[in-house]
Amino acid sequence: MTTTGNRLEGKVAIVTGAGATGSGEFVGIGQAISLLFARQGAKVLLVDRDEKNAEITLAQIKEEGGDATIFVGDVTNIDSCQEMTEAAVSAYGKLNVLVNNVGISGPGSVTDVAEDFWDTVIDVNLKSVMLTSKFAIPEMIKDGGGSIINLSSIVGLRAGGGRPSHAYAASKGGILGLSNSMAVHYGRDNIRVNCIAPGHVYSPMVARHSSDEMLNLRRRAGPLGFDGTAWDVAYAILFLASDEARWISGVTLPVDGGLLAATPLAMYPYLKDPE
Ligand SMILES: NC(=O)c1ccc[n+]([C@@H]2O[C@H](COP(=O)([O-])OP(=O)(O)OC[C@H]3O[C@@H](n4cnc5c(N)ncnc54)[C@H](O)[C@@H]3O)[C@@H](O)[C@H]2O)c1
Repeated sequence: MTTTGNRLEGKVAIVTGAGATGSGEFVGIGQAISLLFARQGAKVLLVDRDEKNAEITLAQIKEEGGDATIFVGDVTNIDSCQEMTEAAVSAYGKLNVLVNNVGISGPGSVTDVAEDFWDTVIDVNLKSVMLTSKFAIPEMIKDGGGSIINLSSIVGLRAGGGRPSHAYAASKGGILGLSNSMAVHYGRDNIRVNCIAPGHVYSPMVARHSSDEMLNLRRRAGPLGFDGTAWDVAYAILFLASDEARWISGVTLPVDGGLLAATPLAMYPYLKDPE
């Protein structure tokens, strides 16, 4: 069932990485955020470098009667980032919410990662937050403030499982530090900056890149013992974007089925036997 409401009525939002990488209810996080925002009354600028992916999200929002516009661009490019804010303001007159959702990963520890791949991951995941915010914040200030939500990861707080991806871990940890500083230094402009740290979300990206054994382990690893979806992440972001969270800034909210609360030994009784 599709729930609609007015939790973001009157707000204009940019969501990066808003293109569909899945289908039906099995969607990527950016697509889930965009759909929920539109269902709750926001006007949404859907940013993605992949036009076809963005068209799919747009079509779904239009079908549901929502209001959205596509911006095809690259969050690592400063001109693109300036133009995306201009596009939101020109389409809808202002900007209130920015969700920095784009993120890429890939294998490599410090001893074997290629230098140019390291730079790419840091640019796409971390530098992009600076580039999009650089142009979004002045527009938010003009409208009396705003909300920025940055997608980190539990891997920004604890080493992740599977193959090491040190560039990913560094970028997601960097997002936490940057977000805290932004929260402090733009607080008096009534700009709130918060982070979401998703855990083992069963998303199209994860389904494409994980073995059945790894998917099973991801699901069982946390206290709740079932898969989170892109929708679970998107509902947390909806709250932080809305005025319901008007006094919440500078926090990192794990959306992880309780994973960060548990040490490996705490989970031992639940993992020692096969299901
Ligand atoms: N899926 C998980 O389990 C998980 C866990 C923790 C954190 N996260 C974070 O959540 C976010 C979304 O993850 P997802 O699994 O939905 O991703 P996804 O790969 O399904 O979607 C990412 C989207 O970003 C777009 N994109 C990539 N590079 C871009 C660029 N340079 N400019 C513009 N668009 C670009 C892609 O075209 C795609 O549509 C990421 O930041 C990811 O690190 C995901």
